[in-house]
Amino acid sequence: MRSALVVPAAGRGDRLGADRPKALVPLAGVPLLVHALRRATASGVVDVVVVVAPAGACDEVRELLAPVVADAVVVPGGAERQDSVRAGLAALPEDVDVVLVHDAARCLTPAPVFAAVVAAVRAGAPGVVPVVPVSDTVKRVAGERVVETVDRSELAAVQTPQGFSAPVLRAVHAAAPPGASVTDDAGMLEALGHPVVTVPGDERAFKVTRPLDLLLAEALLDREVAP
Ligand code: C5P
Repeated sequence: MRSALVVPAAGRGDRLGADRPKALVPLAGVPLLVHALRRATASGVVDVVVVVAPAGACDEVRELLAPVVADAVVVPGGAERQDSVRAGLAALPEDVDVVLVHDAARCLTPAPVFAAVVAAVRAGAPGVVPVVPVSDTVKRVAGERVVETVDRSELAAVQTPQGFSAPVLRAVHAAAPPGASVTDDAGMLEALGHPVVTVPGDERAFKVTRPLDLLLAEALLDREVAP
């Protein structure tokens, strides 16, 4: 049986304010998507790669990936993230039993996180999420009024790759109404009562969302390759 990586990379990335889809924005001259795939494949736990690209950019993405993951399958994405993940799942071979869903925007996620997530799925968890502690104090608000302070010790910030038993992930996507806005695949399992467990994430797996995140990613990359 094989593990597959599905990378939803079809978002526009409006919050980054770039002139191209976020996954194709360069970081040190290399698109975020390529950084993400290099780390994922270096983990040694990914056998199959499916990239869900912006509908008009599939050929560009295929060319970009040829030297990185020669046999990557590239399919066009949909209107919402969930539609894009579903398009990726539809392109998976039958013999895949573990699926990792990883945002291209978490482009510096270290390889060991991928291995830990796959190991936890193979150990029997239907869904696995890497998490890091929440460092801010978090409050529930209604408009401008603070309703309450949430107990931070009970919270975790969730990253990707999220890992799943392939049949369970296929089933929850088949059950979800198309077009619904879902930010997180594990949430779809939770909603249907499937257990989801955590493994330790990594601060470097932060999501490049705003221009400041790109600066941080560049600084980390500089530090990584410095002699
Ligand atoms: O917008 P956000 O950063 O939360 O998107 C998370 C991931 O989902 C990104 O990698 C983005 O490219 C992807 N996505 C997608 N198809 C969409 C919307 C987002 O593949 N329609």
